[in-house]
Amino acid sequence: MEIQVRKALPDDFEIVTKVGHDTFYETWREYNTPEDMAAYLKKAFDPKVILNDLNDATNTFLIASVNDKVIGYAKMRRDRTYDEFKNDPAIEIERVYVFKEYQSQKIGKVLMDECLKIASAENFAWIWLGVNIDNHKAINFYKAYGFTIFGEKGFQLGDAIDTDYLMKRQLITNN
Ligand SMILES: CC(C)(COP(=O)(O)OP(=O)(O)OC[C@H]1O[C@@H](n2cnc3c(N)ncnc32)[C@H](O)[C@@H]1OP(=O)(O)O)[C@@H](O)C(=O)NCCC(=O)NCCS
Repeated sequence: MEIQVRKALPDDFEIVTKVGHDTFYETWREYNTPEDMAAYLKKAFDPKVILNDLNDATNTFLIASVNDKVIGYAKMRRDRTYDEFKNDPAIEIERVYVFKEYQSQKIGKVLMDECLKIASAENFAWIWLGVNIDNHKAINFYKAYGFTIFGEKGFQLGDAIDTDYLMKRQLITNN
């Protein structure tokens, strides 16, 4: 299986909206009320919001595909940090999602490797992310990449507030 990963461009906003919406729905549907899901999806995957995000150099979206079929994506952002990192530059992986049918086939790995490559090339000292405390598969995936837990934060999904672990990993920079 040949996995292709490329940076998304503003013209990709419909593709990014769809993969974002559909992977989020597939992952979280069974744990949330239909009302909370609908409210979150409408806000987070509004095509106008995605287009704005794609036009904002703060963000980088990666699209993973197999035989031209989009099967996962990642979103990095450079506009948030934590006291934990003091004045060291830190970059966030806000989302990494692979459709269930394609999980455990190294697609997450290809996306993560590319995120780490981008972060190191830009001389970020740290890469961090938030992950639901019950999302053991993803937590183990991040641990396999050397991420460690450094805190917790709330995550609002509709009216529900869930808890995310904050995880970080130091980067080898070119400095
Ligand atoms: C988490 C996710 C991105 C991982 O992607 P994936 O394609 O399934 O994972 P990969 O096949 O690339 O795994 C790469 C490596 O990560 C590690 N890994 C992956 N899943 C693991 C698990 N459940 N336990 C331990 N290690 C794991 C392994 O080291 C694995 O390498 P190996 O297969 O040689 O052992 C994917 O499962 C996913 O999209 N889940 C649903 C959405 C989600 O929860 N996203 C995270 C939100 S914060």
